[in-house]
Amino acid sequence: MPTGKIFIIGIGPGASEYLTKKAIDTVKTSDYTVGSTRAIELFDNIQNKISFNVKNLLDKLKEGVQLACDGNTVSILSTGDPGFSGVLNTVLKISKEKGLPKKDIEVIPGISSLQLAAAKCHIQWDNANIMTFHGRENIEDILPVINNGKATIALPSRKVKDMAQFLLDNGIDENRRVVVCERLSYTDENIVEATLKDIAQSEFTYMCIMIIY
Ligand SMILES: C[S@@+](CC[C@H](N)C(=O)[O-])C[C@H]1O[C@@H](n2cnc3c(N)ncnc32)[C@H](O)[C@@H]1O
Repeated sequence: MPTGKIFIIGIGPGASEYLTKKAIDTVKTSDYTVGSTRAIELFDNIQNKISFNVKNLLDKLKEGVQLACDGNTVSILSTGDPGFSGVLNTVLKISKEKGLPKKDIEVIPGISSLQLAAAKCHIQWDNANIMTFHGRENIEDILPVINNGKATIALPSRKVKDMAQFLLDNGIDENRRVVVCERLSYTDENIVEATLKDIAQSEFTYMCIMIIY
């Protein structure tokens, strides 16, 4: 059976200036590129596009892996870095099921929204609590670390205001300082610093990183 190759590519937080040259060059030479519409729009030279949305994500990833099993070179685009709440594990699982050998899978890292949020706030992130709640309901995992003296950088699972309310409901001081980094790298990037109480009363889009000091 002929096998092609899969590249799982991090595209950074969203703006094209954060794309790596490696990502651009790899997409250019791929037979197929699978990604969300906004990810695909970042690239000028795509041979065959396969767009996904939240509903058909799994089917489109399976289609991409199958194309690689059939001998094609396939790029799969992931926002930020594929290994941080990205598509990495899902693509690895599908590839295993379909029998695509590990040697035919290459991960190309990207700049995570977490890294950009840490950079914007001058946080050395090896000394922060890094937590992702995206697509999970493990929000209580934040409680044992929230008071350990380190900044907590969280990718919220629900609305930012709901996450703030959860912390208030669990006895966290309403005056705790919080920074919300919304739509990082886009022209309408919005970085707000306020108390936990104020954040619980504010509206943000889903595209946010929350930092709790
Ligand atoms: C499926 S996760 C992907 C995370 C991605 N792999 C990364 O490394 O940034 C999507 C979540 O990441 C965060 N995110 C992604 N891009 C962002 C951006 N430009 N600004 C703020 N948050 C972002 C948001 O919390 C969003 O809901």
